[in-house]
Amino acid sequence: MSKDRLEEMSSFFNSRADIYDINHISDIDGGIESKNILATFMPMGTERILDFGIGTGLELVEIIKRFPNIEITGIDISANMLKKIGERFSQNNIRIFCGDYLKLDFGNNYFDVVLSSMTLHHYNHTVKLDLYKKIYRCLSETGLYIENDYMLSEHEFIDPQKQEDNLFSEYEKLKNGQHLESSTYYHFDTPCTVENQKKLLLSAGFFL
Ligand SMILES: C[S@@+](CC[C@H](N)C(=O)[O-])C[C@H]1O[C@@H](n2cnc3c(N)ncnc32)[C@H](O)[C@@H]1O
Repeated sequence: MSKDRLEEMSSFFNSRADIYDINHISDIDGGIESKNILATFMPMGTERILDFGIGTGLELVEIIKRFPNIEITGIDISANMLKKIGERFSQNNIRIFCGDYLKLDFGNNYFDVVLSSMTLHHYNHTVKLDLYKKIYRCLSETGLYIENDYMLSEHEFIDPQKQEDNLFSEYEKLKNGQHLESSTYYHFDTPCTVENQKKLLLSAGFFL
């Protein structure tokens, strides 16, 4: 398969589920550390979390160690990634939904924490804003949203906005070149700048 051939999101992850953990633990610099630290950001007394784009559940290991009785709701579009969660955490209080988190209803005023780890760098501003509003609504009064993901910053790029624009136009170019459906999501990394991330979260009602 050509390096630039886009694959539909669930197919991409279904076909890589068996090697996903190895890649994210040993091949990505800071990959596992970025997941393990998430438990430390969660407030004491956290009882209910939603983890969307939960994948194989790598980010849950430390969370379950710190909150052994926590109720976890996980959503992912890839059935093969989700299978790994069953193998890893059979005895825990985890409800799993296989589906598209952009389409599923998250409910209202329920979760203490909503978590996303390494899943949102595939989506554009419009999609993210709608999703952030949905997250805001499903959180309890004192709830917290924690996002662990790729973002573009001045530390890495002279002009992060230009880099973001280039990635989005590259994605469109590939989609058009391969005559792919515009309404389907394909796996291609389009991280946003830190500034744009902040603006989107503020627009959805969050304060930072
Ligand atoms: C890079 S993996 C991250 C998995 C895990 N959260 C982690 O940090 O290791 C991205 C996950 O997001 C899921 N995903 C992407 N878009 C999705 C969507 N629209 N609905 C549900 N799951 C989605 C993929 O199937 C994949 O399992």
